Formats: sequence, C-alpha cells, structure tokens
Amino acid sequence: MSEVVGAGASLPDKRRVAASFSRAASSYDAVAELQRTVGNALIERLPVGLEPGRWLDLGCGTGYFSRQLAQCFPQAEGVALDIAEGMLCHARPQGGAEAFIAGDAECLPLRAGCVDLIFSSLALQWCEDFPAVLREAKRVLRPGGVFAFSSLCSGTLQELRDSWQAVDGFTHVNRFRSRETYQRLCADSGLRSLELSVRPQVLHFAELRQLTHELKALGAHNLNPGRPGGLTGPARIRALIAAYEQFRTPSGLPATYQVIYGMLRKES
Ligand SMILES: C[S@@+](CC[C@H](N)C(=O)[O-])C[C@H]1O[C@@H](n2cnc3c(N)ncnc32)[C@H](O)[C@@H]1O
Repeated sequence: MSEVVGAGASLPDKRRVAASFSRAASSYDAVAELQRTVGNALIERLPVGLEPGRWLDLGCGTGYFSRQLAQCFPQAEGVALDIAEGMLCHARPQGGAEAFIAGDAECLPLRAGCVDLIFSSLALQWCEDFPAVLREAKRVLRPGGVFAFSSLCSGTLQELRDSWQAVDGFTHVNRFRSRETYQRLCADSGLRSLELSVRPQVLHFAELRQLTHELKALGAHNLNPGRPGGLTGPARIRALIAAYEQFRTPSGLPATYQVIYGMLRKES
C-alpha cells in the first residue's frame, strides 16, 4: 500500500502487549463474545450515509471487524493494522482488507490525510499515550473523516481488582483511563465530538477460573509493570476465589466492563 511510510516505535511494554496478543491469536475468536458485541455496537453507531473511500481498522486483531467493514463498504479500500504480528498472520489469509500492516496506533505508519474512516474496537485501552493516538488519527484522516472507537474505562473488571486487593496489594488488573480523562482528551484533540458515551456490560461466569482463562485466551491478562512475578500459590488463589464469591449473583460471578464509545469527526 503506497500510504505506508515506515514502522512505528516500539517500547518494551508494547513488545509485551504485542507478544501477548500474538500468542493469543489462535484462541482469541472462540472467547471474544464481548468483543463481538462491542464491535457490532460500534458499527451500528457509525454516522448514517458514511461512504469512506478508504477505512482503517486500527488494532484489527484477528480481522473479524475488517471483514465486517468490507461488507458494509464494498466499494472502499480497507487497511487492517495491528501491533501484534501473530494477529496479522491470523487475519491476513481470511481477507477483508487490501492491506494488513504492522504498526502502532500512537505512531501510525501512514501518510497524512489518507483515510476517511478509522474504526477501532477494544484496542486503544492498550495505548498509554492516548493524546498521541488522537493526534495520529487527526493526521491520517481526510477532512470530514470519522474516528470511531470503543475502549474500556476505569471500573472495568472492578470485581477482580477488589478481590485481589483483599488478597494482596499488587496490581493484578490492567489500569484503565477514566471517562473524564477520555472526555478531556477528546475535547482537546481538535476533533469534533459527535458521541462519547459509556455503557456498562456485565458477563457472568460459573467459576472464577473461567474468567481468568478467558482473559488469558484473549491475550488480555494483566501486563502492568506492578504485576507480581512468578506463580500464584494455592493459598492466594483460594483467598481470591473466596473474595470474588462475595460478588456472586443468581446469574453467576459478574465481570463488569465499562465500555466507552467515541465518535469524532475531523472538520473540513
Ligand atoms: C482485544 S483485541 C481487539 C481486536 C479487534 N479489534 C476485535 O474487536 O476483535 C486488541 C488488539 O489491539 C492490538 N493493539 C494493542 N496495542 C496496540 C497498538 N498500540 N497499536 C495497534 N494495535 C494495538 C492488539 O495486538 C490486539 O490485537
């Protein structure tokens, strides 16, 4: 694709994120129920009448939504981008986009003003520098272009965070930006905000290990610098299970996700 201008810089923690998602590429689709629901909701939120000449699926993962976008916009050229080579290897043979490229949302390997729609579902919570993501989105969008994203806010996996807190003081759950931070950063971005709303989504599990297994299969388990090293001993696991049981409802053990949907437009 002629718009590619070079690879984005990779920090060590990004390499860890990329490696974790690469490892998860083959298990991801089987456990991505929430990701499907959220991505579909994001597609439904796209402005009516939108007809992009070129779209970018930012943090495309296994490419499920690249294939959806290709169906929604059959005339458009699609670009699927992810930081994890393993995900791209999984997505590429399934098609959907004209180009599958490795890159970082904070430093896009794309020329200015080359896309009409940036679609990004549940990827940007992995980007520490969200102002850089917004700057890059503004740079690569054509005037009138739309940046549609879903991500996660603070309060996500609060039950797991609180349960670990009762066991020890380590950071076992990834940190998420607050809704207020998203609001402030989007307002400062120079892009016009068409929508910014938070919708809680609750999954239920019969057993805690189903949740932890799912997070691992998604590649979304804790990668924070404050995480404890080594194996988790049986006594601590028993304490964690007991703490999480306090949250049990008739539907099972809840896992709450605070999903933020953003729709921003680059003014002409
Ligand atoms: C939870 S998956 C979502 C995948 C896909 N959008 C979906 O909804 O099925 C998050 C994806 O974001 C990618 N990702 C994380 N940080 C990224 C970054 N800085 N730049 C580009 N992609 C990134 C991961 O490699 C992973 O494939």
